[in-house]
Amino acid sequence: MIDAIELEGICHQFEAAGERIELFNGLSCTIRSDQSLAITGPSGAGKSSLLSIAAGLEAPTGGRVHFTIAGVGADALAIRKNSGFIFQQFHLMPELDAIGNLALPLRLKGYRDAFDIAACWLEKVGLSHRSRHRPHQLSGGEQQRVAVARAFIASPRFVFADEPTGALDSTTSESVASLMFECARTTKCGLVIVTHSERVASRADTRLLLDAGRLEVAA
Ligand SMILES: Nc1ncnc2c1ncn2[C@@H]1O[C@H](COP(=O)(O)OP(=O)(O)O)[C@@H](O)[C@H]1O
Ligand SMILES: [Mg+2]
Repeated sequence: MIDAIELEGICHQFEAAGERIELFNGLSCTIRSDQSLAITGPSGAGKSSLLSIAAGLEAPTGGRVHFTIAGVGADALAIRKNSGFIFQQFHLMPELDAIGNLALPLRLKGYRDAFDIAACWLEKVGLSHRSRHRPHQLSGGEQQRVAVARAFIASPRFVFADEPTGALDSTTSESVASLMFECARTTKCGLVIVTHSERVASRADTRLLLDAGRLEVAA
């Protein structure tokens, strides 16, 4: 069954240092768990804010967000619990080794076989031989492969990736992007990816451009 996040007439603004920053005014879009979506746009356009709203991490100042999981209306907490996140700077736990980082979200959810599942995922992302290495002992591309596995490991319905290849060289960026889209496809999970890379964006089923508060289908 398809899960969905529908943003309907979203408005969002910040008050900072006496100034009002208006990011969106009446923005709508639907994110589906059976599709990948790429969002591009200039820095400061509000791409990260849009991800936070879609993932139920932040409430918009106006408009409505409808979440549906397995055909039933859900709240922001349920969406957060069913989402994985990938960031530009990897954000692995520095004191845990690769397998420990992967096992963590499962241990927090009470899985008894967290380390067995983590070992499977390490193999899937080609890093079995780096299992006992901590993040600082891994390259950027290797750390991001661990972060991709961590995002998908607890069977989320959506994975949100905010400039996931922004810190990687172009070859590594391609292989990490390929891994993310492959994981989304095989786990039947929705993927929303914010990127400045045309090549990465071109892998998505749908491409949207966020600019000057408007979201448009990109060519
Ligand atoms: N919590 C906040 N308070 C005030 N301004 C914010 C806050 N979060 C983001 N902004 C501002 O909103 C704008 C869009 O930010 P962001 O969503 O991070 O854009 P992008 O990811 O497209 O670069 C920026 O001008 C940023 O400074
Ligand atoms: Mg951003």
